[in-house]
Amino acid sequence: SFTPRVFSGVQPSGDLHLGNYLGAIRRFVEVQDTGVETIYCMVDLHAITVWQDPADLARSTRTLCAGYLAAGIDPQKSILINQSQVPEHAQLAWIFNCVARMGWMQRMTQFKDKVGKNAQNASLGLFAYPALMAADILIYHATHVPVGEDQKQHVELTRDIAAKFNHDYDVDFFPMTEPVIEGAATRVMSLRDGSKKMSKSDPSDASRINMMDDADTIARKIRRAKTDPDALPSEVAGLEERPEARNLVNIYAGLNDQSVDQVLEEVGGRQFSEFKPMLAELAVSKLAPISTEMTRLLADPGEIDRILASGAQRARAITAPILARTYEIVGM
Ligand code: ADP
Ligand code: NA
Repeated sequence: SFTPRVFSGVQPSGDLHLGNYLGAIRRFVEVQDTGVETIYCMVDLHAITVWQDPADLARSTRTLCAGYLAAGIDPQKSILINQSQVPEHAQLAWIFNCVARMGWMQRMTQFKDKVGKNAQNASLGLFAYPALMAADILIYHATHVPVGEDQKQHVELTRDIAAKFNHDYDVDFFPMTEPVIEGAATRVMSLRDGSKKMSKSDPSDASRINMMDDADTIARKIRRAKTDPDALPSEVAGLEERPEARNLVNIYAGLNDQSVDQVLEEVGGRQFSEFKPMLAELAVSKLAPISTEMTRLLADPGEIDRILASGAQRARAITAPILARTYEIVGM
């Protein structure tokens, strides 16, 4: 059996948003503070599956690192790394490209959502993305991966790859990693369209709250968020078929560490004209200290680079032996 170890990552492409914070980073901090071994990653190799301007990529990587630190990831307690600085991720990914099947990749809904009808023009890397993600996780023998709901299928594929590797080489080398999808905000939706998740890649900036948005911008985006004309219900059942209303209540619950029931107990019966300013105030009070700290950290990029270099060194003490053993198993 495998020692509990946690791995997760975020892409340094575009702005870090409230969905990343509530669905991922804030939960990374909670897990870190339970004392289990944690490795958190900026997955720049994933980011370039879609073309990134080089200067923007470098900037986004540091900004994301600042976001992790400002939100409470402690580089003494967690290993904090940029993926490309730990080459064993990409090396194991190649092995997994040879283990995974085309048909498995073709079933990935995120790939289908991202490319639409244009699959022939997508990069080969975007198609193979889940095999690299499996390598990110398994190069640490990670047993648990805190993620948002959108990543559930990729973690299942990680298990399929681990199982096929173990079977093909008759070993019990890679663990069956569990996704950890918890809390009120595992799927934060777009503020403009309750059927789409809030995402960095949404072309509409009004669809998301960015971690670095100022108070006025946050208030304006929430004020303009799509809702329905009805008052808030006092029970969860009253949010059925009301995805936009449900989303704003989920965000409130997530930000305030409450359950949706608790929130509705407080705000049931109110109109959105009343609830939206409450939500805006809450969002600003939670996010402003983080963005202030991010700005402070970004003023010293050298320090961020040092933290990442030292994280990479610690990471490689884990990844190098696991890659070496993998190569041995494969006969290399
Ligand atoms: P994006 O989809 O914005 O590019 P990433 O793919 O980098 O974000 O995802 C990083 C982490 O944030 C993953 O764990 C993912 O599940 C989580 N995440 C992304 N968007 C959301 C969202 N809208 N709600 C909840 N979690 C999210
Ligand atoms: Na994603």
